[in-house]
Amino acid sequence: KVLVFDFGAQYAQLIARRVRDLHVYSEIVPCDITADEVREMAPSALILSGGPASVYAEDAPTVDPAIYDLGLPILGFCYGHQVTAVTLGGEVGHSEIGEYGPATIERDRESALFNATPLEQTVWMSHRDAVSRVPEGFAVTASTSVCPVAAMENAERRIYTTQFHPEVKHTEYGQQLLRNFLFDICGLEASWTMDNLVETMVGEFRAAVGEDRVILALSGGVDSSVVAALGARAVGRQMTCVFINHGLLRKSEPEQVEEVFTKQFDVDFVHVHAEERYAALLDGVTDPEEKRRIIGTQFWNEFFAVAKDLETDGRPVKYLAQGTIYPDIIESGARKTGGKTATIKSHHNLIPFPEGVHFDLIEPLDHFFKDEVRELGLALGLPEHIVYRQPFPGPGLAIRIIGAVSPEKLEILKNADAIVREELDAYNARLFEQTGERNSEHACWQYFCVLPDIKSVGVMGDERTYARPVILRAVESSDAMTADWARLPYEVLARISGRIVAEVPGINRVAYDITSKPPATIEWE
Ligand code: XMP
Repeated sequence: KVLVFDFGAQYAQLIARRVRDLHVYSEIVPCDITADEVREMAPSALILSGGPASVYAEDAPTVDPAIYDLGLPILGFCYGHQVTAVTLGGEVGHSEIGEYGPATIERDRESALFNATPLEQTVWMSHRDAVSRVPEGFAVTASTSVCPVAAMENAERRIYTTQFHPEVKHTEYGQQLLRNFLFDICGLEASWTMDNLVETMVGEFRAAVGEDRVILALSGGVDSSVVAALGARAVGRQMTCVFINHGLLRKSEPEQVEEVFTKQFDVDFVHVHAEERYAALLDGVTDPEEKRRIIGTQFWNEFFAVAKDLETDGRPVKYLAQGTIYPDIIESGARKTGGKTATIKSHHNLIPFPEGVHFDLIEPLDHFFKDEVRELGLALGLPEHIVYRQPFPGPGLAIRIIGAVSPEKLEILKNADAIVREELDAYNARLFEQTGERNSEHACWQYFCVLPDIKSVGVMGDERTYARPVILRAVESSDAMTADWARLPYEVLARISGRIVAEVPGINRVAYDITSKPPATIEWE
């Protein structure tokens, strides 16, 4: 494995992604990890990421100098380049002119890092400080008109650093440099593939659980479904998957989840029909946060009731499996270490265990990024409708019905939503066919309907109607942090509108939400 040292900001995560894209496993570690700790983790190479600080700033992050003596190949970018220079006896100077954005480097002919790339190439720079003198034993291997040391290396010690950022797409040959480092210089193999991983992960799950029982809260979302599929392969009916049906899922979804986990995977599947209890609790509640609170609290009430029931046969449930993924861990680590992202195991345990109840957690996805989880799901044989499922809020349709939730409104929303999904699934499939990319530029990332708490006048046939409008929300995004409303073709919009009004009783109007996030959010509540 490759360890990526994190000097802050998001650079380390991006580098870890790029390395994994080349099928080499990589993990992020805090930059203040000691050489002994590194040795214990037995990595094959180290990569020092960029970071926002200046090496001369007062609390600038440093590295344990002994990591350079571990005999491991080291690659450093930007801050990693400068910290290497300073630590090994070179110099970094402040310069008047910074370099931000694309720049052209001229590279050395011999450097193995630049193999199979042109002598002049475009790279992405973002720095003010620059290495002014390289450490002893190092050679300059690339420069730009304003940056004399755009790259340096000590080939004998296998230490290679660049001022620019090979991990960003704007660096033309960034991925090739990474390939050169990993495969030619470090001699690694591209063996980290999901197919290879499945067997290992199944084995690890089985070893962790032993003969004990496991419980899992299965939502039907990607992450919990992948854990369920993995657990099914590993321990079969030793695992109970609890599916709590709050009645707020999309049309046909509960049936689909049940079908997959009873027919395709052999687990102990418990379908809790809690629809009526939720309806009673939500009756008359209009405040969005109150809805969320009620739904969240009831979820754990239902879940722990099942867990308790299970144990009446005298066999205790020892483990709770969870679909926590890597970004959750990185983010909770970031909060803990005050800015530095760390992967020290922090069981950011958000589960409100009641008095006297405790399960040990099993989180098999805690080192996977979202798209890797999807690949793993496919490798485990999960159907595409689960693997490529859109994000869906835990409180479900309750936060897409403005005002109080009622059975009548739920029915209307489910029917309108089903049409939107049908039409936009087809639209996305057409784009996928044309571009070969699932989340291509104009593909919709998330799409659904919102039911506002108003009525308006319309005319259908010869009759005046007084019925509800439905609001279509369709956004392009990659991570839900920001989003733009999808520029859907008019024909698609027209078809959706026509079908909803014709097919869903109680709706006489369709509006399209054309607000981006920010300033709006994706959901309405
Ligand atoms: P917003 O509305 O904040 O949503 O732009 C961002 C993303 O998060 C989803 N979302 C939720 N997911 N529980 C969840 O698990 C929630 O309470 C929740 N609220 C919003 C939303 O669908 C979007 O993808």
